[in-house]
Amino acid sequence: MLQLSVKVAKKRVEAIDVVSLELASVDGQALPAFTAGAHIDVFVPGGLIRQYSLLNDCTESSRYLIGVLREQNSRGGSVALHDRTQEGDLIQISAPRNRFALMPARRSILFAGGIGVTPILCMAKRLQAAQSDFEFHYCSRTLDRTAFHDEIVSSDFAGRTQFHFDDQASTRMDLDAILSTPHEQTHLYVCGPAGFIDCVVAHAQAVGWPVSQIHFERFAAAEHIEPLASDQTFQVKLASTGEIFDIPPGEPITRVLDRHGVFIPVSCEEGICGTCLTGVVEGVPDHRDSYLTDQEHAVNDQFTPCCSRSKTSLLVIDA
Ligand code: FES
Repeated sequence: MLQLSVKVAKKRVEAIDVVSLELASVDGQALPAFTAGAHIDVFVPGGLIRQYSLLNDCTESSRYLIGVLREQNSRGGSVALHDRTQEGDLIQISAPRNRFALMPARRSILFAGGIGVTPILCMAKRLQAAQSDFEFHYCSRTLDRTAFHDEIVSSDFAGRTQFHFDDQASTRMDLDAILSTPHEQTHLYVCGPAGFIDCVVAHAQAVGWPVSQIHFERFAAAEHIEPLASDQTFQVKLASTGEIFDIPPGEPITRVLDRHGVFIPVSCEEGICGTCLTGVVEGVPDHRDSYLTDQEHAVNDQFTPCCSRSKTSLLVIDA
């Protein structure tokens, strides 16, 4: 994975438990271009990799802006960025990648839950600049936990934005009304905690919105990388040597192979970074990552063996 060294040019408190980091190139050169909905991997001090969406205007080339929520159950990633990362620090990031891109549409409806506002904010800026029709629903627990509230209120799209606060019943989001009429020229975009995404997506599907018009992005590693009760032992065969290995429930393929001297590079080990991406020669992987897109999953010609398993009893991999 291409790594860039960038400088933390600014760090700001945006809301309770949320800071923004402005990342600038070290040598003044333009940063790689990105499109609305893109994210970068941040190589967090301490060895973790975390993904953060870019929230600034995607026509800017001098900086990337990310928003970081202090996670309650953090393994150290968000805490390191909150507590141990300061203005002037150099950090490593990946080039931007987008699996949550805007689609050409007559109208867009944007839904953000909590820190899920970051890619949605970038989308709102892009849609506004393109004079596209859209509405933006931003749900959060309380006003003082609503990152970028003041920026949105003073933006050109303030009139298209509705805030929904958990502690103000009168602002409750009425999904029945918002999603009542599926329209083939309208696309939906959802980002936030898993429960929020599931709720909006389920509601949209229940009233007939086609899957192809519902786009969402989860932030954390997919929850299903934890072993499932239904997981079975399957076999992995190396295309290069023909060796076959049993992969029992609860054991990552990479770990089993590593024990037998077959090394596939890993980094996050939770399906986020793509470091372990490996080709599939035969069989159908059971994708459990958040790295590949749904389209890439459907092709089944590559997978992430750090967390994914197999739907077939034998998986032949390009190793
Ligand atoms: S090691 Fe990061 S996706 Fe597998």
